[in-house]
Amino acid sequence: MIYLDHNATTQPAPAVVQAMLQQMSSTWANTSSQHGPGQDAKRALGAARAVVARVLGCKPVEVVFTSGATESNQMAVRGLLAAAEPVRRRVLFSRVEHSAHLKLARALAESGVQVDWLPVRADGTLDVAAAAALMGPDVALVSLMAANNETGVLMPYEAVAQLAQNVGARMHVDATQLIGKLPFDFAASGADAVSLSAHKFHGPKGVGALLLRQGTAFVPPTPGSQERGRRGGTENLPAIVGMAAALERLGDLEQQAARIAQLRDALEAGLQQALPATHVWSQQVARLPGTSYLRFGQLSVDVVLQRLDTLGVAASSGAACSSGGSEPSHVLKAMGVPADEALAAVRFSLGSDTTHGDVGYLLNKLPPLLAPLLREETTTPSTTESP
Ligand SMILES: Cc1ncc(COP(=O)(O)O)c(C=O)c1O
Repeated sequence: MIYLDHNATTQPAPAVVQAMLQQMSSTWANTSSQHGPGQDAKRALGAARAVVARVLGCKPVEVVFTSGATESNQMAVRGLLAAAEPVRRRVLFSRVEHSAHLKLARALAESGVQVDWLPVRADGTLDVAAAAALMGPDVALVSLMAANNETGVLMPYEAVAQLAQNVGARMHVDATQLIGKLPFDFAASGADAVSLSAHKFHGPKGVGALLLRQGTAFVPPTPGSQERGRRGGTENLPAIVGMAAALERLGDLEQQAARIAQLRDALEAGLQQALPATHVWSQQVARLPGTSYLRFGQLSVDVVLQRLDTLGVAASSGAACSSGGSEPSHVLKAMGVPADEALAAVRFSLGSDTTHGDVGYLLNKLPPLLAPLLREETTTPSTTESP
């Protein structure tokens, strides 16, 4: 199988599996227990926390372990909002946040919080001037992703963090897609809170972290004695140790990103040459190195994914969490893409295990399967035209 769906999830690395097995069969006691085995487990937790802090440029006390980015995102927004001064009741979200995070935004709006939306341009980039115009002394916090999971577009989170800071608002960055693919430094980011998820960088699923700047006012949405009172619940130590192992093995991300971007660019160029109806979104702007979001004319994504499946290639239609549904992507909608084009969206996401051979295979095999369908498409009159 050729796996080109790294933005959905990644295969746990052998070093990660090894670290987790070792953890589960040795220091498996409760980290809160006073006895010897409990203290051993506590030490293992501390060691993992130190690794996360070192790799991501924060202090160990700033790492709060969670069950993944969905929880980290919710925790950041709810926890920072609850701690904001009463005059700050406005929250800004970008229109292209992850679908689960948008559900939180809508729930907040229904509960009476004023939610304002940061717009994106037709190329998927954030409109920073529009963001600046929405800032004010009543803003409690801004929540913005570092990189979009569908288009791969990099967001100017540092510039927006500066705008938030200028009006005394807090800044949350969902760095789930960026961390593990490009260098990230919490101290330099200007953010107060940052979400990450281990399964996006060859770690296990169901574990992540919220990096929370020391001294930031925060009301824990899930109180408890663990994680310095910021998140209750016995820590999932094997998964946490696996996440630390995944971060530790990342290596030179700049170099890897350059290699992956070269493969992605070769894939796009080859597809565009063989199938001129191929349209790539956000191709001209700064993107995650492995992400390619495209459509083949207006061929239904289901048809394309089925053909890919017969070739043994795994790809995705827009956000993985919404695949299976026929709703056009909210990201493409925010970019002003018409619904019939959005319903043709295919996402290839390459990763550190993608090879030249994988791209060559796809370029050899896919165009002959799609070309006849595209010819049919251009000769069949559209049924969706209005009178
Ligand atoms: C940008 C972004 N945020 C959040 C999430 C949710 O992460 P998790 O699976 O850890 O809950 C994802 C996963 O697809 C994502 O891409």
